Amino acid sequence: MCGIVCYVGQKQARPILLEGLKQLEYRGYDSAGLAIQQEDGIACYRAVGKIVELERKLNGVDINGNVGIAHTRWATHGEPSEANAHPHWDQDENVFVIHNGIIENFIVLKKKLEKHGITFRSETDTEVLAHLIGLNFNGSLNEAVRKTMSQVEGTFGLAVIHRNAPGEIVVARRGSPLIIGVGEDGHFAASDVSAMVRHTNKVVHLEENELATLTTEGFSISTAQAKPIERSTETVEWRAEDAELNGFPHFMLKEIYEQPETIKNAFRGRLEPGEGVPKLGGIMPVWDSLKECRHVVIVACGTSYYAGAVGRYVFERLTEIDVEVELASEFRYRKLNFPENTFIVALSQSGETADTLAAIREAKRKGARLLGMVNVVGSSISRETEAGVYNHAGPEIGVASTKIFTSQLTILTLLALLLGRHHNLSLTEGVEAIRAIQALPELMKDVLSQAHHIEAIAEKYHKCNNWLFLGRKYNYPIAMEGALKLKEISYIHAEGYPAGEMKHGPIALINPEMPTVAIIPKDDMYEKMFSNIQEIKSRKGPVIAVATKGDDDLREIVDDVIEIPKTLDFLNPILAVVPCQLLSYYCASLLNRDIDKPRNLAKSVTVE
Ligand code: AGP
Repeated sequence: MCGIVCYVGQKQARPILLEGLKQLEYRGYDSAGLAIQQEDGIACYRAVGKIVELERKLNGVDINGNVGIAHTRWATHGEPSEANAHPHWDQDENVFVIHNGIIENFIVLKKKLEKHGITFRSETDTEVLAHLIGLNFNGSLNEAVRKTMSQVEGTFGLAVIHRNAPGEIVVARRGSPLIIGVGEDGHFAASDVSAMVRHTNKVVHLEENELATLTTEGFSISTAQAKPIERSTETVEWRAEDAELNGFPHFMLKEIYEQPETIKNAFRGRLEPGEGVPKLGGIMPVWDSLKECRHVVIVACGTSYYAGAVGRYVFERLTEIDVEVELASEFRYRKLNFPENTFIVALSQSGETADTLAAIREAKRKGARLLGMVNVVGSSISRETEAGVYNHAGPEIGVASTKIFTSQLTILTLLALLLGRHHNLSLTEGVEAIRAIQALPELMKDVLSQAHHIEAIAEKYHKCNNWLFLGRKYNYPIAMEGALKLKEISYIHAEGYPAGEMKHGPIALINPEMPTVAIIPKDDMYEKMFSNIQEIKSRKGPVIAVATKGDDDLREIVDDVIEIPKTLDFLNPILAVVPCQLLSYYCASLLNRDIDKPRNLAKSVTVE
């Protein structure tokens, strides 16, 4: 996704903007640029490729200014090129604008502007914004942006400076997040907190169709109808070091190793061990309805969807509630008829995924109640749901989601346990479950201690072009997630499959060059999984088993074993996913992939 970072204050803007762009690299991009207001005009530089290319262009260039905007572009309209990189400017080179989102009526607007004699220099939709703001400018940049908002359809998070509006940045938001940062020596705006967390943890979120003017001294927010808005700052929990590698080669590996801590953060302060009951303050606003709820629909995308798919099994194990799990991108187009008092649970790390956001808006329109489970405090989904549970996992920088997945499984289990203890679960069952949840961080460390063994297995198979991942019940979604991890960071083709489906087709694929990762903990699916493995072995397919510690029978028949400690059946997925994460990491590393920023991927898919 595109990244936006802006600064106006007492310091030089250039270093702050470049450092902010680097914090946004994980979002994925193909070009970058900045514009800084100076005494004698606006200096604008852009470059294709990584930010280091932009820095090369700026080498030896003297830029003095304390007001600036900067952008990393992830191409939607027009190929990655310098001409298409942001900022874009108007005909008179007074207006410089950066933008995240899609202007849906840009072709119509572009034709109108060309009829007015405007010459376009790029293929982008964003350039339309620059020309419109330039034409609408009549002394007030804020007014010019507001008028432009009424002329464009589609989504934007934008920031703009003007030669004749010294000391000002105007930002506006519709469908693409923008956050204001309140610093000691100036003000910031960015598409996400990580771009400014080194300077401030005091933030204000712009809401839909709002704009703001930022100056060194302060900021003012208003609606697209010019109604002033007063909004207090929030404090985010993230620290600058969260955005550091701290000695790890990649953020993804760092975040895999953070999981014992992030699982602890997911249940910290949320357990009543003696009562065998979790306590989730964030859902109290809807608790009276939620505890009577008999129908839940979990909606999400990608890895978050697979977390929801595990959650459905956990809900069925711990409660009497009927649970569905739906891909948000499909759910939003369904003819939705909800039973009375249905709750939608939206799972999203970023809280900005366009399909998930659209799904909850559609569900709300059809009368459902909304809960959010997100990691980013104050994100759109967290603000558009009635209540929810934060992950408290800190920023996840690697594009491939790892620590958030196990955090999501943990908070879904807490919610299911809370509801179960208000329905059918006994005190003993509750106490046992909480004790097992509290033990997870140490058990996770045990799995992580096998990293070198897992790396050796990756060494054996990383040149295989096709992998199969198999699981049943709670671990079927783990097979899906394991396949996704391998695909998205090593670019190896992999399929996750419910093991029971093997005889309905996929077994035709088995061959000595195609490894199968079989998730086979000692649970009620063990015997069936064991038979699946025997079927594969009899056809000379290599099998890597993720198995419960001490399973010597299995060791006899498979090629490799990765052990996970024994725990309750519905908690196995939280441990079983880690070998899959590490296998994909080491395969990608052996193949020299761009692990934290895989090709074509973005950390948060805020466009449809
Ligand atoms: C996971 O590795 C991917 N990066 C992707 O599938 C991600 O889980 C999906 O885009 C959903 O993102 P969200 O959790 O921020 O909504």
